[in-house]
Amino acid sequence: MYIGVPRERKPGERRVALVPETVAQLVKKGHQVGIETGAGAEAQMPDALYAEAGAEILPDAESVFSKAEFLLKVRAPLDDELPLLRPGTVLIAQMMPLVEPEVAGRVAKSGAISFSLDLMPRITRAQSMDVLSAMSTVAGYRAVLQGALLAERFFPMLMTAAGTIPPAKVLVLGAGVAGLQAIATARRLGGVVQAFDVRPASREQVESLGASFLSLPVQDGEGEGGYARAMAEDEEERERQALAEPVRKADVVISTAMVPGRRAPVLVSREMVDSMHPGAVIVDLAGETGGNCALTQPGDVVVTEGGVIIDGRLDVPSTMPLPASQLFSRNLVTFLSHAMQVWVGETQRAAELGPVPEDDEILRSTCVSAGGELVHKATRERLAAAL
Ligand SMILES: NC(=O)c1ccc[n+]([C@@H]2O[C@H](COP(=O)([O-])OP(=O)(O)OC[C@H]3O[C@@H](n4cnc5c(N)ncnc54)[C@H](O)[C@@H]3O)[C@@H](O)[C@H]2O)c1
Repeated sequence: MYIGVPRERKPGERRVALVPETVAQLVKKGHQVGIETGAGAEAQMPDALYAEAGAEILPDAESVFSKAEFLLKVRAPLDDELPLLRPGTVLIAQMMPLVEPEVAGRVAKSGAISFSLDLMPRITRAQSMDVLSAMSTVAGYRAVLQGALLAERFFPMLMTAAGTIPPAKVLVLGAGVAGLQAIATARRLGGVVQAFDVRPASREQVESLGASFLSLPVQDGEGEGGYARAMAEDEEERERQALAEPVRKADVVISTAMVPGRRAPVLVSREMVDSMHPGAVIVDLAGETGGNCALTQPGDVVVTEGGVIIDGRLDVPSTMPLPASQLFSRNLVTFLSHAMQVWVGETQRAAELGPVPEDDEILRSTCVSAGGELVHKATRERLAAAL
């Protein structure tokens, strides 16, 4: 099988779909791997490392798209890449088809068979292919570092000859994958951490990391598939009221609360921001879906009149492109091995592939397009609603 990896072209995207370690694994299994020149440069991986791992270095995107039977990408193809997609090519990427259904529709029209790893079911045996978890781990860690730098204060309690400095008070909202990583990181730095999530099951995980779980009079928010459910407006208002005091006292708030397919809940209102002290920081990881803070400007860092800093930067995993690419590429290769096992089999030629097996939950859930059609129902519905 010829596996191709182009350079990511979306501005700000610094990750790459395969790293030399995973290239070597694929080459060892007998595949050929072609990497566009410079694909790993932003992630500290020059062409020479890929060549050493056994990859062919290709001069441009055109040659990668034309040679690849399996095309591995981080992001969905951009407008100028879409015309390069050939019928029958198998595209695997984090396409976010529910956010960008039009792009998924155009991929389908190209005749490519596409899989989007963000649609991975949250089941135990798919954990090693779960890019959302891997990228949330990077984002949760990085958010704390951003918060610590912006706050310009010590996280640990310091007892010095010049007296004692109290530890930073960190509040983490949403204790899913990113939130738990943020808690662990803030604790390692020595901060005093409180956290809250509407899923009662998260309490034990929060406490096991040494943070205290806020007991708030908010109803059970457990939804389907281990995710939170969307809260009604009055429930969200009650949650804001209950969070007012912990937010006021916090030096750094890391917010990660999200509900799949919905706008992120607004947990920090303008008034709550105004109650915070000058120099307090909110790092809002929910910016892609509107943000958990009413004043978040997705993509930007803003400072309020009262001196509160709100960091709504997007693409946080791309700020650590090397480890983010390592994790992403391991997810991808595990998915690829799974696809080889249950679908591609001995065929080993994309042109001879049979239909995507319906009885395999992992392939069925992640398959976006095949045979010129959008086969992912929820994406089809989103596209129809957007037209
Ligand atoms: N393969 C697997 O088994 C697998 C993989 C990853 C995650 N998970 C589980 O899935 C769940 C969700 O993980 P995620 O990090 O992707 O979630 P997510 O990114 O959708 O949301 C982040 C967190 O925000 C919380 N949240 C939503 N609304 C909130 C509100 N109004 N107030 C406070 N918190 C709110 C959610 O409960 C969640 O914990 C977790 O239980 C996680 O352990 C399972």
